[in-house]
Amino acid sequence: MMGTDSKVVCGQVQTVALSECESDFPGQPYSVSVLKTGYCVSQTDGTFKADGTITLITGPRTILVDTGGPWDRDFLLMKLKERSLAPGDINLVVGTHGHSDHIGNLSLFPSAVVIVGYDISEGDTYRPNKLAEGHAYTIDEHVSVVPSPGHSGQDVSVLVKGTSAGTVLVAGDLFERCSDEDSWRDQSMNTSVQELSRQEALRIVDVIIPGHGLPFKVLRNR
Ligand SMILES: [Fe+2]
Repeated sequence: MMGTDSKVVCGQVQTVALSECESDFPGQPYSVSVLKTGYCVSQTDGTFKADGTITLITGPRTILVDTGGPWDRDFLLMKLKERSLAPGDINLVVGTHGHSDHIGNLSLFPSAVVIVGYDISEGDTYRPNKLAEGHAYTIDEHVSVVPSPGHSGQDVSVLVKGTSAGTVLVAGDLFERCSDEDSWRDQSMNTSVQELSRQEALRIVDVIIPGHGLPFKVLRNR
């Protein structure tokens, strides 16, 4: 149902969903690839099926953003192997927030630096940081982890500059999907805080990779 969907947001910004085959964003020095597109589907019995988007960032550092749920273990290993990567090759794992469909496979990466929400750890050593005070955690001049609270209370997104599509934000559940005005508030712990985080993202990035849908472009009137 994606591919041609678009919607005007706040009169200034238009978002345009990309298709399944537009989930790779090559760049210099970093490229961004969606390994699994997240979803959220209501069932007739009142439950819903959901999984979080899994994204790989490759370049000077190899960074995995969200790991899917525990049921994605073999899928994730297979996707890494397809790229000639073993879990030990991942330098940094970012869990955008602490929900089970996003951080279900952290244990595959015991030697990586792990960032989940506002916690940054290496093994059992936790590094002080200022994410909770609203400051980005800089990986290098091209990649940073930015606080984007609202959905769960402690949310981060990963900002990647210099891809072929411009600046990409791997956003976790800051955005459910393109045109998610009907649903994101239902999943939000703090809608007013999340609205501010969303508006800031829409102001500065060119592509958003949401937590439960295909990537989408952000077009601004200049
Ligand atoms: Fe979530």
